[in-house]
Amino acid sequence: MRWTRAASRCLLALGLALTGCVAPDAEHDGESRGPLTLATAGDLTGYLGSVLEGWNRTHPRERVTLVELPDSADETHAQMVTDLREADRGRFDVLNIDVTWTAEFADAGWIRPLDPGRFSLKAFLRPVVDTATYDGRLYAVPYVTNAGLLLYRKDVLDKEGLPPPRTWAELERDAKTIAPKYGLEGYAGQFLPYEGLTVNAAEAVYSAGGTILGDEGDRVTVNSAPAREGIGFLARGVREGWIPKPALSYKEEESKQAFQDGRLLFLRNWSYAYAVASAPGSPVAGKIGAVRLPGPDGPGTSVLGGSDLAVNTHARHPDSASRLIAYLTSETVQRQVLTRGALPPVRAALYEDPDLVKRFPYLPTLRSSVLFAAPRPKSPRYDQVSLVVQAVVRDAMTGHETSEAAVERLARELAAIPHR
Ligand code: GLC
Repeated sequence: MRWTRAASRCLLALGLALTGCVAPDAEHDGESRGPLTLATAGDLTGYLGSVLEGWNRTHPRERVTLVELPDSADETHAQMVTDLREADRGRFDVLNIDVTWTAEFADAGWIRPLDPGRFSLKAFLRPVVDTATYDGRLYAVPYVTNAGLLLYRKDVLDKEGLPPPRTWAELERDAKTIAPKYGLEGYAGQFLPYEGLTVNAAEAVYSAGGTILGDEGDRVTVNSAPAREGIGFLARGVREGWIPKPALSYKEEESKQAFQDGRLLFLRNWSYAYAVASAPGSPVAGKIGAVRLPGPDGPGTSVLGGSDLAVNTHARHPDSASRLIAYLTSETVQRQVLTRGALPPVRAALYEDPDLVKRFPYLPTLRSSVLFAAPRPKSPRYDQVSLVVQAVVRDAMTGHETSEAAVERLARELAAIPHR
């Protein structure tokens, strides 16, 4: 018996040697475990290393190495796509992808379908799970969600006896008349041509009741009065000066800095900016508030932001990749995403946790902003859709084109993108 086992081990070893296979957890083995790399866009709050240390301490044979890519969503997208196209399978095993890339990456075959049974999807906020699916299959697992908020200088509005604006008219009035009295600029968002501008433009269009694409990207719906109104709101701000010119080069960080340095009355940004600007040491700590984005007649609509974790089709150790994703979306780590990373977690129960609500009073506002947020169109060509939106809205905001002409051009150029 002993001899037989030993012999069969030898035969197995011989067979493996002949086929050039050196380890039982070979690349084709769906159960394989081993070290990983995790690629992510810039970690703006510098927390992810400490979270991954928690995993590395307890999983020494499946250690994960963090690869931090640029802050700009578009540059990260370009670097990930270049890597995924590498003939030798690329360097990245797990990818922290923007919620808008799932369709493109899945359609191209760069990321692999995942087994929904391995993740606690039922515990997540409902709209976020949809961002991780494509063609009826799960291709990623929601990791962080996001919604835009209006940050405002509460100290200034209090002195004026004003509530935070609920409508664009109130925001424009305060940005034009109150801000200069206090030596402040009026309003900024993320207006550099990159994904941030697409987000801000989409929010303006959605808030006015319009849409950009319909039927999951198959139909162009942007040529409408609400879209003209939305783009018109942004263009008017620059023309009239209550959106300062430097804001045309802001991404998330630059706009957050302007607000945190005490230069702005109003800022549209993701909730991390509110958390960072309210933290001890910030010049505006204790002087700011956050509300839902305004719209033409009342609260407007945020775009749904955030990122999902996906596994490279050619990941070296797919089982470890799924185990890491289950860890990062566990209740413990999702709590750290909020407490250490100042980012909105995907697990619904955390938004109602009394201790967390006490520590992060903006959680209920954030929760409703996420639940009311509108997803960007799901399209395998989303990258091209976004580039068109950025270019056209830029021209409207710099006064090179009227909002009417911009919306017509947007409709024409979007229609020219083959959506499938
Ligand atoms: C944030 C959002 C992401 C969005 C990006 C735009 O990272 O989470 O969804 O695309 O900002 O700059």
